[in-house]
Amino acid sequence: MIMEQKEKERLYYDLLPAVHVRTGLFLRLDTAEEFLHAAASHDAFEQWRRHRKGMPVTFLDWQGSDDDSILAALLSAVEKEKGLVMLAGAGLLAWGESIPRVTAALRGETLPETSPAAGRLHGKIVLITGAAQGFGKGLAASLARDGAAVMIADINEQKGVATVEELIRQTDNAAIAFVKSDVANAASVNEMVMQTVARFGGLDIFVSNAGVLKAGGLDVLEEKDFDFVTNVNYKGFYLGTKYASRVMKTQHRHDPRRFMDIIQINSKSGLQGSNRNFAYAGSKFGSIGLVQSFALELVKENIKVNAICPGNYFDGPLWSDPENGLFVQYLRAGKVAGAKSIEDVRRHYESLVPMGRGTTVADVYRALVYLVEQEYETGQALPVTGGQVMLK
Ligand SMILES: NC(=O)c1ccc[n+]([C@@H]2O[C@H](COP(=O)([O-])OP(=O)(O)OC[C@H]3O[C@@H](n4cnc5c(N)ncnc54)[C@H](O)[C@@H]3O)[C@@H](O)[C@H]2O)c1
Repeated sequence: MIMEQKEKERLYYDLLPAVHVRTGLFLRLDTAEEFLHAAASHDAFEQWRRHRKGMPVTFLDWQGSDDDSILAALLSAVEKEKGLVMLAGAGLLAWGESIPRVTAALRGETLPETSPAAGRLHGKIVLITGAAQGFGKGLAASLARDGAAVMIADINEQKGVATVEELIRQTDNAAIAFVKSDVANAASVNEMVMQTVARFGGLDIFVSNAGVLKAGGLDVLEEKDFDFVTNVNYKGFYLGTKYASRVMKTQHRHDPRRFMDIIQINSKSGLQGSNRNFAYAGSKFGSIGLVQSFALELVKENIKVNAICPGNYFDGPLWSDPENGLFVQYLRAGKVAGAKSIEDVRRHYESLVPMGRGTTVADVYRALVYLVEQEYETGQALPVTGGQVMLK
């Protein structure tokens, strides 16, 4: 039985986040072959159930039930039995606080009553876009090290999948997954948010990080380049907030005391004009307008909306890529007078920063954790620029 798109959205936007609030993470497991097979029909499922030991399973029928009765049945199955739920048409769902815990339980090991030692962001579910490389990848690694479940979204599937494998090895956190997404496309963003809920059960922090840059003055930059930058950096933030906030609103309905975060990785170019780089600066300035407006709209649901405005990340691929990085481009274009090497160009840009160095992932991550932990601030654009840009 294939679920209608509308039913699928209701499950992911309304029901699963509600269950998550009450019970901890609620995972969809039908990516594993064994479960897919079991989920194929009622009979196959019953047969599979008889073979399992020590893991209670409840069968629910999606069709013909309204939201409230499905939610009540899911909650009761999860709270009373602490086992698996098979939702006809939607797949096999498992209760548990983390993927390793649920996997262990499925192998027949007993579910421990309490979760293992927690990191600073333990239990938080984070979706971060453009995280296959650069700032996004670094932030995803830090979030995972601090115990969050992290969904990495990127348009570059190959790099995204490789990043997930690398981060699982590096951080010892198995709750890291990848979803291919184009942040400028509404259907793709909708799917990205639904996949996050399906995989981890809810959404606490949405980091809108994907961004692109096409520099050029008015006589050089073409309309299609302006549209490209605007669509990814500005419209992409609107679309991400539109769909992420749907899940967050459901979570708020079921737990009004819970705080959630939408954080845009903006730029110092969102606070100060950038010569011959107007498409980028305009998209970032505009995004701060969105941040302030979304913050006002979502404040009643305890969804904070803020931006972080980093200075230049000289060690990241945007600047340091040996083929297309900005250092190479600026050297070739003779943008820095007298510069003869990449090092000369780098030194020039570092000298513009009062603190004498570029922004690092660690600098941006500290700002992100501050915004998450600070419950009394919203609608802000927080500079992390080593003093290069100061608020007026
Ligand atoms: N690098 C800097 O110096 C700097 C400084 C300030 C702010 N920023 C901002 O930080 C963010 C990350 O920048 P970065 O330097 O790490 O960039 P990056 O180019 O290294 O990485 C960006 C990632 O976004 C992905 N992406 C691009 N278009 C996408 C789309 N339509 N949908 C989904 N993913 C897409 C790319 O595949 C890539 O993995 C951006 O918003 C950027 O504006 C960067």
